[in-house]
Amino acid sequence: MSLLIQNIGRLATPRCHGSWEVEVTTDAAILVEGETIAWVGKAKDAPSGADETHDAQGGVATPGLVDAHTHLGFGGSRYRELELRAKGASYQEVAAAGGGILSTVRATRELSPADLEKVVSGHRDRMALAGTTLIEGKSGYGLSVASELGILDAYTATNGTAGPPIVPTYLAAHAVPPEYRERREAYFEEVVLAGLPEAAARAQYADMFVEKGYFEAEEARRLADAAKTHGLGMRLHVDQFGDHGGAALAAELGAKTADHLEHTGPDGIAALAKAGVVPVLLPLSVLGLGLAKYPDAPEMMAAGLPVVLASDFNPGSSPGYGLPLVMALAARYLGMTPHEALVATTVNAAASLGSSDRGVLAPGKRADICLWPREDERELAYWLDPLRPTGILLGGRQLAATLNQSRT
Ligand code: NIG
Ligand code: FE
Repeated sequence: MSLLIQNIGRLATPRCHGSWEVEVTTDAAILVEGETIAWVGKAKDAPSGADETHDAQGGVATPGLVDAHTHLGFGGSRYRELELRAKGASYQEVAAAGGGILSTVRATRELSPADLEKVVSGHRDRMALAGTTLIEGKSGYGLSVASELGILDAYTATNGTAGPPIVPTYLAAHAVPPEYRERREAYFEEVVLAGLPEAAARAQYADMFVEKGYFEAEEARRLADAAKTHGLGMRLHVDQFGDHGGAALAAELGAKTADHLEHTGPDGIAALAKAGVVPVLLPLSVLGLGLAKYPDAPEMMAAGLPVVLASDFNPGSSPGYGLPLVMALAARYLGMTPHEALVATTVNAAASLGSSDRGVLAPGKRADICLWPREDERELAYWLDPLRPTGILLGGRQLAATLNQSRT
């Protein structure tokens, strides 16, 4: 089955992984054969004889967006916390008052496996309609072996249905649940480490929230050892609320990514560059928490790092998944141009998840394509209202019409 996408006003694609360059072709077309892009170029040169055609109505085509850091397996919502936060309570104070991660853990544990799967696939489908075509998804709101595995199972089940794939990450080391409050070391042994072998059959990465009051560097070292034994890569939440040497730790452990990095300084950035650890920056969580300190993306780019931008979609710090808004924040607060933000949410994000066939519109790549009703791709990072694609191809299949559009 072949499909010719015609009448593309501007086709904008990263050149390749490792470059910040975006190539633009005006008056363009794309030929898709099966799941793959067969040809890209000027419309006037397009091959004839496609089985079907699609009119992009003069809009913009980009690669499908890739979200390399989300927590989409959660129950409930945390809108009530805004009242406390509006009165000046910090993230940590909200958590101490019974809100925070642990309140989402309560709501998530209450869901039956079938209901959790419904919640996950609903989030996944809304993310797809916003242009996200590959998703990293963490566990972390179960905090017992059974419920952490249950979240990973919900991702696997969702992956059995049409929509963007979820790459699962095991994040039992997200917080210590109340039943282990007096025995936090036992939590690390009896849940985080004990659950790892079974999690390894379901996940590709392990992660830990390394922060004061959550988990320590020494525990990250032990988790990384165990993860390696079971064939999992590491992603780490580090330096979110202070420079705790988290970037250097991620470098020491050979993590695939170091995420957040709001407080990482030049030494930490140099360590990431030396070890080849990919920075994943989450400006929507800075905005979501009403904070002002964004990560030092210019220094990271100057160090040659392939910066990734992601949503951090979760019910606490970042209740949103729209990557165009993340790009808009990056253009205002991270010193990234709209084109750099596009590279960071496509080819760089895909590479951080081990996918080399996504994030570039070129022959041989997977046909994950977004069509935007705008005249220029730089508008993705310009508008502050949610920008939605009018056409989405996922592995060559048109998606938008088929997905569930229920309540967020
Ligand atoms: O990435 N920092 C830790 N985890 C999430 C927040 C989780 C929550 O508040 O529920 C984050 O920001
Ligand atoms: Fe996160």
